[in-house]
Amino acid sequence: MSEYIVNKSKFVFVGEVNIPPDKSISHRAVFLSSFNKEMTKITNLLMSDDVKTTMYSLGAIGVMFAENNGKYFTRGTGVREYIQSPETIDCGNSGTTARLLTGLLAGQNFESVLDGDESLRKRPMDRVKTPLEEIGAEIDTTDGKFPVTIKSSKIKGGHIKLNSGSAQVKSAVIFAGLTGESELTIETEIKSRDHTEILLEYFTENIATEDNIIKITPDPIIKNDLIDIPNDPSSAAFFIVGSLLNQGSYIKLEKICLNPTRIKFIEILQKMGGNISYENISNISGEKVGDILVKHSDLKGIDICGEDIPLIIDEIPILSLAMSLAEGTSNILGATELRYKESDRINSIVSELSKLGADINQNNDDIKIKGKESLNGGICKSHFDHRIAMMLAIAATRCTNQVKILDSDCVSISFPNFFEIFEQFRKNI
Ligand code: S3P
Repeated sequence: MSEYIVNKSKFVFVGEVNIPPDKSISHRAVFLSSFNKEMTKITNLLMSDDVKTTMYSLGAIGVMFAENNGKYFTRGTGVREYIQSPETIDCGNSGTTARLLTGLLAGQNFESVLDGDESLRKRPMDRVKTPLEEIGAEIDTTDGKFPVTIKSSKIKGGHIKLNSGSAQVKSAVIFAGLTGESELTIETEIKSRDHTEILLEYFTENIATEDNIIKITPDPIIKNDLIDIPNDPSSAAFFIVGSLLNQGSYIKLEKICLNPTRIKFIEILQKMGGNISYENISNISGEKVGDILVKHSDLKGIDICGEDIPLIIDEIPILSLAMSLAEGTSNILGATELRYKESDRINSIVSELSKLGADINQNNDDIKIKGKESLNGGICKSHFDHRIAMMLAIAATRCTNQVKILDSDCVSISFPNFFEIFEQFRKNI
């Protein structure tokens, strides 16, 4: 059991903070490189536990990876020549690996079995099974969850309407469509992160998007062999909020992905009074990127409604902390999806911030927070959820007593050197 202790200290976040590469885009870079029978070079790939899980999983079906000086080289098989894994494929803690791989394997001419850790075994797979079966897949789940058996099937083309706001579900259907018998059009009702569409458009000739319609042509034709990855706004969020909350802070975060489906939390923090700006805007492998500048600010409460939830899904833990230290009351309404993350995040946010002295309550799937001047401190736990562990560390910067975070080493899922960077800003008193 790991633990991380933050003694009562002053924290001032100043200077450049190196944020790791984007987790969602790293998963997709690795998946897409498997479509290329020639070599693909990937630069700035996130080497966190979750992305390694995607690499091991694709390795189990015949994809080869090599590393040289921090650059990664992939030799894929193409979408019709993966080989059957001799064993159950272990998707570890990674929901993204689980869902995207299920889509890719749904149309293969062999059967696959996927499993994962205790947390992944609690997460829903029906949301992927249902749309994939609508286009011809055959998937057996264990009471709607992992382990799953993906039967050998043929994916039909045609039209499918998706009513979920999950990027993972949409991506699973896109991957299945690439292995299909004819063109597939996907109509999405709710906007979710669109990295699969953007990278697929950069890397292949097999996608066309217009408004909420995605058209997929099977059998990827590769048009690029280099993928560069921007840095992760969801990881940046912890230091952005850390800077807003601590006097004297002024930081710069470089080459962050500024995809509009990922930076809604920044708009929310700006509305709360946060001094956050952008500079050096450019484009990397189809994604908008730029530098983010943040200055300490006094924050005020805000209400967030259900339709924004898919666009801030990974930032709600750290936004809840910002609200706990803002002036006035905040409400997060209709956050049902948070129940299906690495932990039940409504429970873990409310229980752990309460332990530190925040005035926070849940009512069904809503969270109500009354802001305070500071928090107390105490012993809290991560629930083996990386984003809860990092949020609690940032909370400790505004606690009047020691904070002990149990099971803290899960930060390696998305931000392996989080605590090293965090420590740079501690001024012992
Ligand atoms: C992700 C999508 C989100 C997010 C997860 C990563 C992705 O999940 O919470 O951390 O890479 O597609 P959902 O699409 O299920 O909401």
